[in-house]
Amino acid sequence: MVDAEIGVLGLGVMGRNLALNIADRGVTVAGYERDPELLKLARREAVAVGAHDDLAEFVASLRAPRAVLLMITAGPAVDQAIEALLPLLSPGDVIADGGNSDYQDTVRREAGAREAGIGYLGLGVSGGEEGARHGPALMAGGADETYKRLEPVLLAIAAKADDGAPCAERLGNAAAVGHFVKMMHNGIEYADMQLIAEIYDLLARGQGFGAGEIAEIFEAWRDGPLASFLIDVTATVLRKLDEETGRPLVDLVLDSAGQKGTGRWASIAALELGVAAPSIAEAVSARVVSSLVEERAAAAERFPRPAAGAETVTTEQLAEALLAGKICAYAQGFAVLAAASEANGWELALDKVARNWRAGCIIRAGFLDDVASAFSNNSGIANLLMAPAFSDILERTVPALRAVVAAAVGGGIPVPALSASLAYFDGYVSARLPANLIQAQRDFFGAHQFKRIDRPGEFHEDWFADRSASS
Ligand code: 6PG
Repeated sequence: MVDAEIGVLGLGVMGRNLALNIADRGVTVAGYERDPELLKLARREAVAVGAHDDLAEFVASLRAPRAVLLMITAGPAVDQAIEALLPLLSPGDVIADGGNSDYQDTVRREAGAREAGIGYLGLGVSGGEEGARHGPALMAGGADETYKRLEPVLLAIAAKADDGAPCAERLGNAAAVGHFVKMMHNGIEYADMQLIAEIYDLLARGQGFGAGEIAEIFEAWRDGPLASFLIDVTATVLRKLDEETGRPLVDLVLDSAGQKGTGRWASIAALELGVAAPSIAEAVSARVVSSLVEERAAAAERFPRPAAGAETVTTEQLAEALLAGKICAYAQGFAVLAAASEANGWELALDKVARNWRAGCIIRAGFLDDVASAFSNNSGIANLLMAPAFSDILERTVPALRAVVAAAVGGGIPVPALSASLAYFDGYVSARLPANLIQAQRDFFGAHQFKRIDRPGEFHEDWFADRSASS
């Protein structure tokens, strides 16, 4: 096949499904795969796709200016692919990286490609295998002319929100934006999943409900303010019975959560930007703690859990706590995005990001429409918590979050993401925090100086001298 509109390099699960999705939209697509097994599979399944194992032939089959979409595992393989591709491409051609690449690698790769006259697009792709096949959310970043080359294909294959808008957009002017936004999507995904898991734990260990009973509760949350793909997934997963034993399969799954790194990167980026994203960071730490399976088993022998405490909260309180915790986690994620945009001059529109996440991606949720409105109606808001629609919800739901966290603490059930969300909220709404004491301590041992609330300037004190507080 010659003159293909786009080439997909890498025909693993994601690449093959995206290629099939592209072909279904009537767009000619060529594929490249060097693994013989994957190539065989692609040739069998992806009949409309010209699948090559020779890179030069693959590139020659693309219409100029050529567009190559990399669908390979993030890391050194992306550098290797670019290195092999560049000599075969011509100025004006474009490369898009659709993997979960570290955005800092994308900065470097874009600069290298630019030197060769090649446009480079960072493309966050979310939605897993199913999304790739039938409509992912596509978060693009890069130069306008680079995006324009790919735009018709991206719009055609992307998921469509309820209002028909495709979830494919150029979100910012630098290639790194696509991967930064995808990374924060995953950070929020981690927090969202952890919050849900904590509610599940409170229902299971805290209140003694079985998986089927908990599924019923999550099913009831499918409509209403919690409506989201992750709530659907949770309800579905909880219903599944193991064929062999007849027991709920979830009860047989080892409680050790894996991770590929994007949640950790999101937390690191937040810390580097000086933005608090504790619900995301706690979700990463919770996965780490979960992986200590044997250590936990030994420690559980030594420290039995308090017998009672977590059974006092109602299902309604759990739903409200989950919603409040989720709003705080999203507020953190969007604050990180705003800070990154500010620091890098990305001109990232937060309402566009929220709209982009309404369909196709893992964190798709009804309430993203409201997040988009919050940022577009009042783009000057300092934090999502202060958008009137969300302040109203929080006013109603934070008391339940408090009650749930208190009950969990009493019952010895770890709720790191719920507690982090609550602490974030309580910190954000405290006009005065104990940072005065931190400043005094810093000045005491490091002469770091402090500001005073009653007069301008920087001060240093000899804290040992005379007037000590007597009460
Ligand atoms: C998506 C997912 C996808 C993948 C994550 C999971 O948006 O489609 O986020 O990118 O599921 O990599 O990450 P962990 O393996 O770290 O949970």
